[in-house]
Amino acid sequence: MSTKWQADAPSNIALIKYMGKKDAALNIPTNASLSLTLPHLRSFVELEVNEEPYDLWQPLTYLDYAPLKLSEPQQQRFIEHLQLIKEHLSFNGNFIVRSGNNFPSAAGLASSASSFAALTQCACLAISDLTDKEPLNIYQKAQLSQRGSGSSCRSFMYPWTLWTPENIQEVHFPITDLSHLSVLIDTSEKKISSTQAQQMVKTSPHFKERPKRAEQRLAQLLHVLNDQNWQEAYQIVKEEFLDMHQLFHTSKKPFQYINEQSVEIIDLIETYWTESKDGPLITMDAGPNVHLIFRSDQNSIKHKLQKELNSRGYDVI
Ligand code: DP6
Repeated sequence: MSTKWQADAPSNIALIKYMGKKDAALNIPTNASLSLTLPHLRSFVELEVNEEPYDLWQPLTYLDYAPLKLSEPQQQRFIEHLQLIKEHLSFNGNFIVRSGNNFPSAAGLASSASSFAALTQCACLAISDLTDKEPLNIYQKAQLSQRGSGSSCRSFMYPWTLWTPENIQEVHFPITDLSHLSVLIDTSEKKISSTQAQQMVKTSPHFKERPKRAEQRLAQLLHVLNDQNWQEAYQIVKEEFLDMHQLFHTSKKPFQYINEQSVEIIDLIETYWTESKDGPLITMDAGPNVHLIFRSDQNSIKHKLQKELNSRGYDVI
């Protein structure tokens, strides 16, 4: 009987954002979101049976990067999710849980999505092994993961995931093999986490109409991606992340992630589009880093922009 299990899961980047919760205990989103799965950015989790009567978190040490550092509250939240899974599967044992990412943890990309998805995968695997119970299917695992961190439920499907308040589903578009670059601007820990941002946006005067705007943009984006209208997709995706950041800037206690460097990159991409009539999609999460998405036939554009960003002193992964 094995006493150690491993699993990993990809990160994802939302083009229509999950921002606001209908039910904070269950992480039911206010509006539907659409994300692209990022198979190259992964979290790894290892679980080992702990004979002591408690669960414990440790960093994984076999990855190439410096071991992950989680603050006490972050460790607590991770362990609580493990406990929720144990309860859900009526399991009483305890584990040492180790986790890490295949990207530098200082990159500011260590969103909870990939790590909660990997923990859910690993815990379900370990517990079904230890109890001989029927394993959960992908959809049940995604739903369980959602309770730990909402956006993690989108990391179970590929290449795109549509997550509505009622459902989580895999989506395909005619444009395939997209690639992604993150422009690293600030790699320090965020002062306001995405979970805190989810709470604070509710106090913005623009929040009331937000679900309507998000749903409208989602319908337009699904349409233009099906039509392979990349330029329209660029406009919609840009409007969408700026809308989310506008909520941050107008909440009762305003907060801001977009900084001078983010603006420099947003402007660089806009100029590129104006001059070339083509370019990458651009989006930002709850942080200052900028995400670029390229079609598979845009390799030369990608290399050109990567060179330009490097020459301006930005790390790109
Ligand atoms: C800005 O999934 O981190 O990345 O459910 O509280 O864990 P919790 O929130 P989280 O929110 C992520 C929000 C976002 C946009 C998105 O990924 O859709």
